[in-house]
Amino acid sequence: MCSAKFYITTPIYYVNDEPHIGHAYTTILADVLSRFHRFFGDEVFSLTGLDEHGQKVQQAAQKRGKSPQEHCDEMAQRFIGLWDKLQIKYDDFIRTTQERHIKVVTALLQKCWEKGDIYAGEYIGWYCVPDERYFTEKDLGEDKKCPLCGRATQQLSEKNYFFRMSKYQDWLKNHILTNPDFIQPESRKNEILGFLEKPLEDLCISRSKERLSWGIPLPFDNKYVCYVWIDALINYISAIGAVYDEEKFNKWWPSEYHLIGKDILTTHCVYWPTFLHSIGIAPPKSIFAHGWWLVDETKMSKSLGNVIKPIQLVDKYGLDSFRYFLSKGMTPGQDSSFNEDIFCKTINSDLADNLGNILSRLHKMIKSYFNGKIPAPSKTISALDNDLKTTALSTIEKVKQLINSLKINFAIEEVMNLLRAVNKYIVEQKPWDIYKSGDMEKLATALYFSTEALRIAAALLQPIIPDKIKNLFAQLGISQEDSCSINSLNWGFLKPNSEVGESQILFPKVIFEEKDTKQGEASDKTPISQPGIPISEEPSNVITIDDFKKVELRTAEVIFAEKVKGADKLLHLKLKVGQTERTIVAGIAQFYEPEKLIGKRIVIVANLKPAKLKGILSQGMLLAAKAEGKLTLITTDNAEFPSGADIS
Ligand code: MSP
Repeated sequence: MCSAKFYITTPIYYVNDEPHIGHAYTTILADVLSRFHRFFGDEVFSLTGLDEHGQKVQQAAQKRGKSPQEHCDEMAQRFIGLWDKLQIKYDDFIRTTQERHIKVVTALLQKCWEKGDIYAGEYIGWYCVPDERYFTEKDLGEDKKCPLCGRATQQLSEKNYFFRMSKYQDWLKNHILTNPDFIQPESRKNEILGFLEKPLEDLCISRSKERLSWGIPLPFDNKYVCYVWIDALINYISAIGAVYDEEKFNKWWPSEYHLIGKDILTTHCVYWPTFLHSIGIAPPKSIFAHGWWLVDETKMSKSLGNVIKPIQLVDKYGLDSFRYFLSKGMTPGQDSSFNEDIFCKTINSDLADNLGNILSRLHKMIKSYFNGKIPAPSKTISALDNDLKTTALSTIEKVKQLINSLKINFAIEEVMNLLRAVNKYIVEQKPWDIYKSGDMEKLATALYFSTEALRIAAALLQPIIPDKIKNLFAQLGISQEDSCSINSLNWGFLKPNSEVGESQILFPKVIFEEKDTKQGEASDKTPISQPGIPISEEPSNVITIDDFKKVELRTAEVIFAEKVKGADKLLHLKLKVGQTERTIVAGIAQFYEPEKLIGKRIVIVANLKPAKLKGILSQGMLLAAKAEGKLTLITTDNAEFPSGADIS
């Protein structure tokens, strides 16, 4: 389960570009996990920051006619501004140009040098300027193009400094094999183990100042600066006091998770642990590599003009909708395609129709039946009440486990299932009918149980959509302070007789036109916020055209009909649907003689999940009109229609 301390990091982002949805994703993922762990009672340290050295930054600054530091300072404000806007709660923000970081890098390079794990050697290789990576001859094809970006490389031969990475190959392999959680998910672990099948080479960790001055000088030769990746990786320990604050460092290191994108797997899983091992520091506990956000199945890139900008989406749909979609829309570890229609549909179905609608219905009933006071439940409860309570409590456990294994999207689905159970409970209990019957004790229990289950679902969504849940709690009359405490996960936390707050629409439903747009054009949709689905005491029966499209209606010809033995109301029908045959069990025996049905062309729901009735598998449902004790089958008897025709 949860550990008592939880140290989580994001990659530190390059300051040569504007933050996009990919950067926002890793950072939101770290934030959501941090908030969950805090909520579950862990002591959390969450780190993010910026990678400010290296050739790319130097070039980007030059292009803008700025000094590298000026450029970094300006770009840092963009990232900090975005994280503020996305309500990222980090505990420290490290920048590799900070003095505290430079001191640690210098000290650790010196330590490695003194140990003899860094040596001077002749480097003959090919260098890719945009990727800042050296390649050996065997890494490249005939054309000597960079294997990462496909651009031309430059051949270089010069003195350089090398880290004896090869010396630690066996140790690393063994560490990966004996620590199954070290690299996650499994597919990425296998990728690294595959990489380690080939002999590991030593790593060139210096860059000549003649070519690159924007870096941290090597303590043992100041004609060189440190390779930007070694500099950057050290951020994970320089931020928590390595070298200068032993107590803090020992408290937090090793980190529970380094969250990274799959693009920076080797640097994190090979360079970083071997370097740490060399200087006598334990490796991080887990490195988790998530997949890519693609746009309509294509990689995001400036040249394609399909880069998704987080701020645009937040401005258009609201912060919590954005945080929710990013958290729900990707199975960590796999790639995911960003699509604005799916974004809107997810928000509408999960947050407007499910969460928001339950809140407004319960709020309205508490207002009208109990004068706005949370009703006190009865001591005697029914099986239905108990089931709901059990579902709510087991959801907490499931969510805890899923969060511990980083499966945020599955955790969210569990909460949605709990909300569906609340909805079903309301539909089954029919509080409006209980009210009419005058049984106020039963009504109080039904409303208390459904509101309490809603409150637990909301508490579990708090790390993902903090603002809206704050609003939801205010509507239920719960203070923010109370809602954050671990006790809020106890059943019965909601105080009877407390007053509910003002009602508000939590998530306005987004109405959007589905039209063909160019990939990634976030602004071409026209969302119109409208109050959610009608707020009524009765369950809402409003469906969208997409809901309706899911139902497959077909014409069918009755070819066989007989009464089901031991069931007065049921008929066993065989139908011809196009070229196929299927069986349906229908409750129409009181209205139709079996033999009169043969040859009738009726209408069926063809994609209903099959179910067994009296031991017969029923593969669909027929449509009939019913009123005043009479029933008539909907038929296409008057039209010359083949069976199996689609009805729309
Ligand atoms: N500076 C290095 C990291 C050093 S960490 C010691 C770097 N920076 S970056 O700005 O390029 O950001 C990389 C990270 O951004 C990725 O690892 C990933 O976390 C995130 N993403 C960037 N594009 C992405 C997507 N399209 N999709 C998901 N995340 C991706 O590499």
